[in-house]
Amino acid sequence: MRHPLVMGNWKLNGSRHMVNELIDGLRKEVSSVDGCDIAIAPPFIYLDQAKHQASGSHIMLGAQNVDINLSGAFTGETSANMLKDIGMKYVIIGHSERRTYHKESDEVIAEKFAVVKEAGLIPVLCIGETEAENEAGQTEAVCAKQLDAVLKTMGAPAFGNSVIAYEPVWAIGTGKSATPAQAQAVHKFIRDHIAKHDAKVAAQVIIQYGGSVNASNAAELFSQPDIDGALVGGASLKADAFAVIVKAAA
Ligand code: G3P
Repeated sequence: MRHPLVMGNWKLNGSRHMVNELIDGLRKEVSSVDGCDIAIAPPFIYLDQAKHQASGSHIMLGAQNVDINLSGAFTGETSANMLKDIGMKYVIIGHSERRTYHKESDEVIAEKFAVVKEAGLIPVLCIGETEAENEAGQTEAVCAKQLDAVLKTMGAPAFGNSVIAYEPVWAIGTGKSATPAQAQAVHKFIRDHIAKHDAKVAAQVIIQYGGSVNASNAAELFSQPDIDGALVGGASLKADAFAVIVKAAA
């Protein structure tokens, strides 16, 4: 039985004040939830503050990115061991915004997956097709290629105790979520693709949906058999909306 994970990706949003307010609000709203893992990923600079603010609750913390190097002359970077050191549990990698604006390749993302696993953290690997790829009928091929970069270097066991987030790029921040049936079809494809390598790992891996998830559409998305929670952007910036999504998954 898979335990869903609802994770808030705050992206480049937040302040010291917002970290305290939002986490306090969330703590109240989700204190009795136990059927769903809950995590938030504020910007790096607020992670330590957020960790303290969430202490004693079951809200876990994640980072939005990581460097492939562990230490040395890499100005501006943060290592997986540093994230582990300050109590992070998850690291989002391969988000489409990093692929697009920071030109991260499948190969670099696979390296990030490896350093995250090596540090004992849980990678949340984002995959998904653009609108043009979707319209060209390439959704499955794109997802397979993005998964294969990790499968090729680390093998299917790497997906044990890992998370995949299917985020169709056309649904991110657009208010236009994939329909539950559309998302379910791709989630099943992802699980079947991993099952070709390792059926046991495929049955266990958490596959989140991401892309315009909100308080109104979450429950129907989560009713699908292969959708194990969500990676939430905009709706994770309001405690009440995020709590509705968490409760829909629990
Ligand atoms: O990582 C979450 C994300 O990209 C979805 O963003 O704002 O569409 O929920 P949003």
